[in-house]
Amino acid sequence: MLVSAKDMITKAKAGHYAVGQFNINNLEWTKAILLTAQELNSPVILGVSEGAGKYMIGYKTVTAMVSNMIDELKITVPVALHLDHGTFEACLKCIDAGFSSIMFDGSHYPIEENIEKTKELVKICAEKNLSLEAEVGSIGGEEDGVVGAGECADPEECKMISDLGVTMLAAGIGNIHGQYPENWAGLSFETLAAVQQLTGDMPLVLHGGTGIPEDMIKKAISLGVAKINVNTECQLSFAAATRKYIEDGKDLQGKGFDPRKLLAPGVVAIRATVKEKMELFGSVGKA
Ligand code: G3H
Ligand code: ZN
Repeated sequence: MLVSAKDMITKAKAGHYAVGQFNINNLEWTKAILLTAQELNSPVILGVSEGAGKYMIGYKTVTAMVSNMIDELKITVPVALHLDHGTFEACLKCIDAGFSSIMFDGSHYPIEENIEKTKELVKICAEKNLSLEAEVGSIGGEEDGVVGAGECADPEECKMISDLGVTMLAAGIGNIHGQYPENWAGLSFETLAAVQQLTGDMPLVLHGGTGIPEDMIKKAISLGVAKINVNTECQLSFAAATRKYIEDGKDLQGKGFDPRKLLAPGVVAIRATVKEKMELFGSVGKA
């Protein structure tokens, strides 16, 4: 059964670890992430961007696939199905489609408009017992068409959004979607500490989890980050494993071209990446 992310994230914040959000694109991604969470007895959040939702033929198809997979694979760890960087309209669609968690990304609006729209969603989510993530500041780089300037969040604005009653808050702290450039300045722990100080118990979310050095991840968790999003790193692992399979000529041997064989090394690679992240985030055994 799908659950709201509220309990898992609240426990993570109190227990000084973080729950991973891993974005899904298809059956292989979903299966790999669910099986790894179950194997490690870890709570997990499946992220769905608007682009991935379209690719998977709509949010209702995604809900049906994920829910049925949870049943068929006998997944007993808590799983939240979460819209990633959603517009207001996409949030409503996902709520209608049976998602258990949504992210409204109003970070590109003036703060007053971000507050207004977030407030409306707080009300709807409370009625339906869904978790809601909001964003202040912006995440640099680009993810599935969502482009951010990467400016650090204003802690006072974070407090305003946090006070609306959202479940978790993503604050831009110099993090970037995709791979980090050589000259990346690193996370702004000054901003994170100021946000944490003003927002108290609010679980904070770190986007752009691909390629952030381990010591920075650990420091971010110690400053109140309770959810970390990873997308690109699973894509890179999948691509590398698939490329190796083909370059080794395995697709030409026996029935190696069978998609179920061709995609299998990629699934193993995603599982290894998810395992590594869950261990680093400290969510293993916390289901
Ligand atoms: O919203 C999803 C993420 O922030 C993932 O970022 O692709 O850099 O891991 P990433
Ligand atoms: Zn993100």
